[in-house]
Amino acid sequence: MSKLPIGIFDSGVGGTSIWKEIHSLLPNENTIYLADSINAPYGPKGKEAIIKLSIKNTEYLLSKNCKLIVVACNTATTNAIDYLRNSYNVPFIGIEPAIKPAALQTKVHAIGILATKGTLSSALFSKTSGLFASNIKVIEQDGEGIVELIESGQLHSDEMRSLLKLYLKPMIDANIDYLVLGCTHYPYLMPLLIDLLPSHVKIIDSGEAVARQTKAVLKQHNLLNSQVLNTKNEFFTNGNPEVMQSLLGEKFDVDYLDF
Ligand code: DGL
Repeated sequence: MSKLPIGIFDSGVGGTSIWKEIHSLLPNENTIYLADSINAPYGPKGKEAIIKLSIKNTEYLLSKNCKLIVVACNTATTNAIDYLRNSYNVPFIGIEPAIKPAALQTKVHAIGILATKGTLSSALFSKTSGLFASNIKVIEQDGEGIVELIESGQLHSDEMRSLLKLYLKPMIDANIDYLVLGCTHYPYLMPLLIDLLPSHVKIIDSGEAVARQTKAVLKQHNLLNSQVLNTKNEFFTNGNPEVMQSLLGEKFDVDYLDF
């Protein structure tokens, strides 16, 4: 059982930022990554549509005998993880914007959150925000267009720079000292964000925490893989494999899959 793969899915290539954290903490684990790029972005879709797509991704990963599923997408987690947990027997790990650490550490009582519309409008996000950030200023920004640019290979474009400048302005004007990245595509924007934000602003995302939680849950279920040899990491996309390949480097193969 422990040799079975961990399944990871996202609306597209962004969840590879989470895969990298998982692979670095758990190098013995076999993994299957699924990018539903043809349906990206999930952000503007309604809850019902996001649940449907999450079911499709989950069922594919279960057909490959995954022992645990990481929903490497804030939008799918905040809209669909309750449904998935209630419907399937495997453990699910989700990802949510790291509001809590930012709210606890801010010195100026002002933080920024960049996430998709689907995440910002979800009940789970309102609940977490209400619990931890009700007495500080939270500048929420829908990152409309960012996922599309990354999915079409325009991560380093002038258009991306202009879009980010526009989205960060209200946060800079509000003098935030923490920016929370609430979408798994956004860690790839780190160099640009560092360049555009005042140097004292700290940027946090939930990738490492997700990897630690994955390890803890595998351990709890006695599912950690102790076998070191012949670890397999497979990457599938129903979009353009070249885009994911450019984010992963040449060490791993990316295959097109019609799912
Ligand atoms: N990576 C997804 C997330 O974390 C992007 C969602 C989308 O496709 O809009 O929310």
